[in-house]
Amino acid sequence: MTVKTRILLGVTGGIAAYKSPDLVRRLMERGAEVQVVMTAAAQKFITPMSFQAVSGRPTRSDLWDSAAEAAMGHIELARWAQLVLIAPASADFIARLAGGRADDLLATLCIATEAPIVIAPAMNRVMWANKATQANVDTLMARGVRVLGPASGNQACGEIGAGRMWEPLQLAESVLEPPANAGLLTGLNVLITAGPTRERLDPVRYLTNRSSGKMGFAVAAAAREAGAHVTVVSGPVHLPTPTGVTRIDVESAREMYAAVHRHIGEADVFIAAAAVADFQPVTVAKQKIKKQGVSVKLELEPAPDIVKSVADMAKRPFVVGFAAETDNVEDNARSKLKRKKLDMIAANQVGDGIAFDCEDNALTVLWPGGKSEVTRGPKIDVARTLIGLIADRLPPPDGSPRRGTRKRRPPPPADSRARLRSRRVRR
Ligand code: C5P
Repeated sequence: MTVKTRILLGVTGGIAAYKSPDLVRRLMERGAEVQVVMTAAAQKFITPMSFQAVSGRPTRSDLWDSAAEAAMGHIELARWAQLVLIAPASADFIARLAGGRADDLLATLCIATEAPIVIAPAMNRVMWANKATQANVDTLMARGVRVLGPASGNQACGEIGAGRMWEPLQLAESVLEPPANAGLLTGLNVLITAGPTRERLDPVRYLTNRSSGKMGFAVAAAAREAGAHVTVVSGPVHLPTPTGVTRIDVESAREMYAAVHRHIGEADVFIAAAAVADFQPVTVAKQKIKKQGVSVKLELEPAPDIVKSVADMAKRPFVVGFAAETDNVEDNARSKLKRKKLDMIAANQVGDGIAFDCEDNALTVLWPGGKSEVTRGPKIDVARTLIGLIADRLPPPDGSPRRGTRKRRPPPPADSRARLRSRRVRR
């Protein structure tokens, strides 16, 4: 490689730390500059001097070391890094990272940096399988943290199972290989809707749906990874915002419509992943609706169709809709593509452990005159493929041919974690 990548290597407390000096060498052989930062627990396994010897830089470990801070303060160090790699990442460090803690130098750097973060977990197999650890890893992945490993095999504790840190060579090759979609949407503005909407009936009740927002947030993370400026307008969800993504929280379809139209002027691509209510109550009762006899009549009116309103604009971005279908997926989606005048639609069958409120998805992506099947996988992988398809279909700014013939890089190696189980379209 020609460009030097400035890597901040975080080493946390686990026996796999003995492999990390080799990782430093492997990264440096590939042209990277490496600054090692150790936690206190890591120093119980290996000394800072070992890292200084291989990296050629003093190892940092103390947030309160005034001499080191005078040379390069922690904020400066956080800015210096083009990539933060935590290897090994212990269960405790993963929990601290997920919790947004800043209780030592490495944790502080992780929340002070805008660089992508990659973790290589290493721990006993039961600790890895623990629900708390898995929930923390899910939180980090939803924020855009890349998780490499762990591998399965013999563990230092004598057990056999998933929890071994990836080998240094595999880690070095993976982090220095750019993500397959890197640069595909550089400089473009992407506006995304995500999650459900909530339509109030009275001060305590509302109509909503089962959308978790995970797919929309995965699309936001993948668009960001592809170099876009990303804004997500989200209904009520319990999800962390992916790193580098601007988030606008709304509740109802009306609020989502207003937020989208406030920002659509700058958007090059609009992706409507939200499960927006089709109907909203005509009036919202000021007082709690009282029980009166056996039945209550609710009068509902159509909610604003946000994606259609964008597609109807004279100067519009590239518009991508979603369609969750229970039957005849392709036919229904194709007619929605036409009726709403979309540039692309991503359709999925609801049920069978995919789509709503689950981790996996599979899509049939349709556009006028074309189609692509995205096979079942974690939502972030499906989102990355969708972003690739969008980039292929985007009209070029200068009238040159579409990018549909661009060479795709081979997909990055699957994480062994893979489930413990201005380019506006003028019309
Ligand atoms: O017609 P249907 O609701 O199935 O269309 C789904 C697509 O339309 C999704 O992209 C969804 O985000 C969008 N939509 C919208 N506003 C609505 C209803 C759906 O933007 N009120």
